[in-house]
Amino acid sequence: MATNKQVLLANRPNGWVKESDFQIAERPLPTPGDGEVLVRNLFLSLDPYMRGRMGASKSYAASVELGAVMVGGTVGEVTESRNPRFKPGDLVVGYLGWQQYGVGGDKDLRKVARRNFPLSLYLGTVGMPGVTAWIGLNKIGQPKAGETVVVSAASGAVGSVVGQLAKMQGCRVVGVAGGALKCAYTMEDLGFDGCVDYKAGHIAHDLERETPNGIDVYFENVGGDILEAVIPRLNPFARIPLCGLISDSNSTTPRGISDMRQFLVKRVKLQGFISSDTMELWPEALKQLGDLVENGTLKYRETIVEGIESAPKAFIGLFKGENFGKLIVKLA
Ligand SMILES: NC(=O)c1ccc[n+]([C@@H]2O[C@H](COP(=O)([O-])OP(=O)(O)OC[C@H]3O[C@@H](n4cnc5c(N)ncnc54)[C@H](OP(=O)(O)O)[C@@H]3O)[C@@H](O)[C@H]2O)c1
Repeated sequence: MATNKQVLLANRPNGWVKESDFQIAERPLPTPGDGEVLVRNLFLSLDPYMRGRMGASKSYAASVELGAVMVGGTVGEVTESRNPRFKPGDLVVGYLGWQQYGVGGDKDLRKVARRNFPLSLYLGTVGMPGVTAWIGLNKIGQPKAGETVVVSAASGAVGSVVGQLAKMQGCRVVGVAGGALKCAYTMEDLGFDGCVDYKAGHIAHDLERETPNGIDVYFENVGGDILEAVIPRLNPFARIPLCGLISDSNSTTPRGISDMRQFLVKRVKLQGFISSDTMELWPEALKQLGDLVENGTLKYRETIVEGIESAPKAFIGLFKGENFGKLIVKLA
């Protein structure tokens, strides 16, 4: 009889996450109730936001309960249906969590089509991270042709889309990424104009070289030293979509900004945003992103690990830059 392997939250980490903060469990397959379907998850997305859900502090979304299945985006195939809108074989995206099978109904699942790109992209460039890039750049960053856009975590799921969209809008695009290989990728494969390897040890100097006209939009994914190096290069009326602060994720003391006055004298707009706040923008963003991937304009890269048991270790690697592109677990 088939069983359902799951990853549960075993401990709330204080500081760095450890593999022992997770527990692998094996349970009987769940049974769909009226209006629900059983889904065999094919791919699971691993994302930085999950670190926040492992803690108990108040945030924009509820924490995962101790002993519960870890939260996570999935793409899978309906195997049994008690809902007339879904039939076995339908492909669905949802948040069924770190497990091989899950059940959901209309409000949990969105049907997707098999298109001319891998299904896993529905968790990356044509999914939540891509939409995040699209919303943050277009609605908050509002770049104009000729402006300079800098994006951190540039080779990753969100950053790679930000930079490519900004390029399409006629901007000078500079990435910040960890290591020469990731930097080379943003320039050679994604078409960025420049890239700063923050691990090389002279971010401020390299950023000055790559942004001779200053910075008009800084798409913030990281925070910390990279933000500190960006601030002096900001132009008057610069915009900062504050998407994430991954460098702070495992720290027990949040980092501040040393020179807040720069925001005043340069009239900088900084706005935090969560992509799920503006669900009304998703259909347009997903349509554009899907079309751009399908016609070969928007490039992507994935790190795919195999099997649900690989998820904890791979997830920890996200915070050390071990992934190169969108981090995905292949489940079936
Ligand atoms: N606001 C929203 O709605 C929303 C939605 C999705 C994602 N996000 C945020 O967007 C950011 C990027 O997420 P993603 O899914 O696209 O992840 P990702 O970029 O695919 O992977 C994370 C990357 O962050 C970089 N990183 C990790 N620790 C770092 C550190 N201490 N200092 C500098 N860089 C570090 C690493 O790249 P390097 O090797 O280049 O260092 C790593 O590969 C995260 O902050 C995430 O929380 C926000």
